[in-house]
Amino acid sequence: MYLLVFYIWQLPVLAVGACPALCSCTFGNMGLAELRLVQCSDPGISAVPVNVPANTTKLRLEKTSITTVPRAAFYNLSELRFLWLTYNSVTSIHPSSFVNLKTLRELRLDGNLLTSFPWEGLRDTPLLQTLGLHNNRLSSLPAHAALFLPNITYLDLSSNRLTILPAELLDLWFPLPGQRSGPLQRRILGLHDNPWLCDCQISMVMSLSMSLGSSVVLMDRMVTCSRSLGQSRVLLTQVEPNRCMRPSVQPAATRVNSPLGSNVILRCDATGYPTPTLTWLKTSAYPDCCQQHESVEELPRDLASFLQESPRVGVRWSIISLNGLTYKDAGEYRCQARNMAGISEALIQLKVVGITRLSRFPKKTPTAQLTSSKYKKPNQTVIKIPLGKDSQTPRSTKTQTAPDLTNKVYPGGEDVQDTK
Ligand SMILES: *[C@@H]1O[C@H](CO)[C@@H](O)[C@H](O)[C@H]1NC(C)=O
Ligand SMILES: *[C@@H]1O[C@H](CO)[C@@H](O)[C@H](O)[C@H]1NC(C)=O
Ligand SMILES: *[C@@H]1O[C@H](CO)[C@@H](O)[C@H](O)[C@H]1NC(C)=O
Repeated sequence: MYLLVFYIWQLPVLAVGACPALCSCTFGNMGLAELRLVQCSDPGISAVPVNVPANTTKLRLEKTSITTVPRAAFYNLSELRFLWLTYNSVTSIHPSSFVNLKTLRELRLDGNLLTSFPWEGLRDTPLLQTLGLHNNRLSSLPAHAALFLPNITYLDLSSNRLTILPAELLDLWFPLPGQRSGPLQRRILGLHDNPWLCDCQISMVMSLSMSLGSSVVLMDRMVTCSRSLGQSRVLLTQVEPNRCMRPSVQPAATRVNSPLGSNVILRCDATGYPTPTLTWLKTSAYPDCCQQHESVEELPRDLASFLQESPRVGVRWSIISLNGLTYKDAGEYRCQARNMAGISEALIQLKVVGITRLSRFPKKTPTAQLTSSKYKKPNQTVIKIPLGKDSQTPRSTKTQTAPDLTNKVYPGGEDVQDTK
């Protein structure tokens, strides 16, 4: 009798040292590879075990009654490489669940009841490559998910409730050559069995992944979509190619040389469907621009003061005006066009030519364009300069000499910011 009581009292003490209750632990050398596996698959388990040996490399919690994954649930497992939480009833995961999983490569959460996933939690798993979210209840993918997915090469989102794929993920998975940092990442994606709406993004994923040499492979190409919520689904490969079109952007000139103190306008035109939005960025100083200038500005810099207009669906142009050029204005300007189908950009190099004394407003006769009645108000003329009114006009690598243009646009040297 005394012995039996002692034994019952002793059991949990032993478990703490060795293996969590209701789990099995396999630690040992299996030939070359060392196996440190903890496996828990008992419906009696209702919370993530806290006493998993710290040197575990693979943890499988399957078919348990676990419903939530709390904060820092695996904090002690800094050597964990595989974490499987498959076929439980997990409904929520704390955004800091994965802290300290510095060596995690594979996270599988397939077969749970997740309606959302804390994407920002992937900050804590820099080596993660495989993320399985198959067979959950995810109904939306936020745009910021793309920030945390660049290193994920296997992503299974199949059998969820997803309807819209954010354009940011398209940009991540199918980057334009100029946008890539590092070598092209090959990826396997599971997108099938979701109630996608037949839109630009999902059609783009399908067509780009089937194009020759694509770095993206779909687990299953039988991706279906419906025209509107609740309507019957059709195979994406049978949907007639969507009207969507990645932006294409053209600068009015790719090199601009302009004298110190002059006014200059940089312009670019973009086409695409849906109509792209345009932003400007100053990305670098021109190599030989700044000898006479000590302060070096921080780049890239968003250029907030620009004008833009969309004369019709699918077309937008934009200009930035730089008044009284200084050497600091010299450099590379990027005009970036973006729509849900992607991003495209054009580069304009502005060189400031040193002239000791420039007469700022030479008394030149304004050209015909300017004198036309359309341009009565000098302050606002910039909005309507017809520099190639549609994008078919080829004008890619022209060199624009700024003083002419400048003085056409700014006969009085007004400040363009005022007109915004
Ligand atoms: C981590 O280890 C400490 C000390 O061994 C223990 O008190 C704690 O409960 C463990 N935490 C988890 C989440 O397992
Ligand atoms: C891992 O931890 C277990 C339990 O604490 C221990 O028995 C084992 O020797 C450890 N293995 C290694 C390689 O550290
Ligand atoms: C991606 O990998 C790089 C290099 O290993 C790492 O520095 C970065 O933090 C990782 N990013 C994410 C979001 O995990």
